Amino acid sequence: MGEIWILLKLLRWMTNYFAEKGIDNPRLDAELLLAHVLQLDRVGLYLNYDRPLVTEELDIIRPLVKRRGQREPLQYLLGSTEFWSLEFIVTPDVLIPRADTEILVEETLGRAESEGQLLDVGTGSGAIVISLARELPNWQMVGLDISAEALAIARKNLEKHQVADQVKLLQGDLAELPVQQYDLIVSNPPYIAEKEWDELMPEVRCFEPQLALLAENNGLDCYQKLADQAISRLKSKGWLLVEVGYQQAEAVKKIFVASGLANLSVREDYSGQPRVVGGQLLKQK
Ligand SMILES: C[S@@+](CC[C@H](N)C(=O)[O-])C[C@H]1O[C@@H](n2cnc3c(N)ncnc32)[C@H](O)[C@@H]1O
Repeated sequence: MGEIWILLKLLRWMTNYFAEKGIDNPRLDAELLLAHVLQLDRVGLYLNYDRPLVTEELDIIRPLVKRRGQREPLQYLLGSTEFWSLEFIVTPDVLIPRADTEILVEETLGRAESEGQLLDVGTGSGAIVISLARELPNWQMVGLDISAEALAIARKNLEKHQVADQVKLLQGDLAELPVQQYDLIVSNPPYIAEKEWDELMPEVRCFEPQLALLAENNGLDCYQKLADQAISRLKSKGWLLVEVGYQQAEAVKKIFVASGLANLSVREDYSGQPRVVGGQLLKQK
């Protein structure tokens, strides 16, 4: 006869196992994974600590624990993540939206009039454009991405959040943005430099799409391309707003100024790192 696993015992075992594997928040991950499989919320877990798990449940949990131990991101195992208090479907085809990117959403909302046109470049799961569409119901928005697989996930998220009428998805390269005039262009583009690759956490390096992460020219290539085109794609007084990586804000500001953008702004994230750079087009070229 197999060993009897009550919930608390399994939770402790998973926490130790995840800690041994170098996972940052082993207890939290163990709780979230168990809660997901048992279809309980975290309070429900605490109330069921003495409940024995049946073989069928253990059979589902075992491979998920193994995958998390191999550092596969929890969000891919759960199939979803939260961003801007909304739940987004995520698969290995899309970058997992990060809490820091909510700063970009906040900065964009701070510059939005009651109606307008917005382009989100490198939309991935659609987290940014969908959060903005929910906040700005009178705006028309476009989410552009080079990856057809990412756009298929973005499409599901548009439908889930009922903004499919408001947001159009386009497959394309950020080197050739649609020839149209926008009030706001926003982007969280790839910005990791090749030389930083080996330092990334295994969750990122081994599981998230490389296409979503790496950029040439020391991580600055996409900013240059976006700034070069923004001046002909923004309406007068329109803004280009981008998320930037650690220590990139100064370089991105220089790129923006050289491209003809003005009123440069830098917004820090909640850990005090420069996170979003903005530049305004004062006159159409
Ligand atoms: C850092 S991810 C951002 C995803 C999402 N906007 C977010 O913030 O969670 C960058 C996105 O840019 C897309 N991308 C990469 N190279 C691109 C290119 N040349 N043109 C358009 N999109 C590109 C990737 O597929 C990926 O979805």
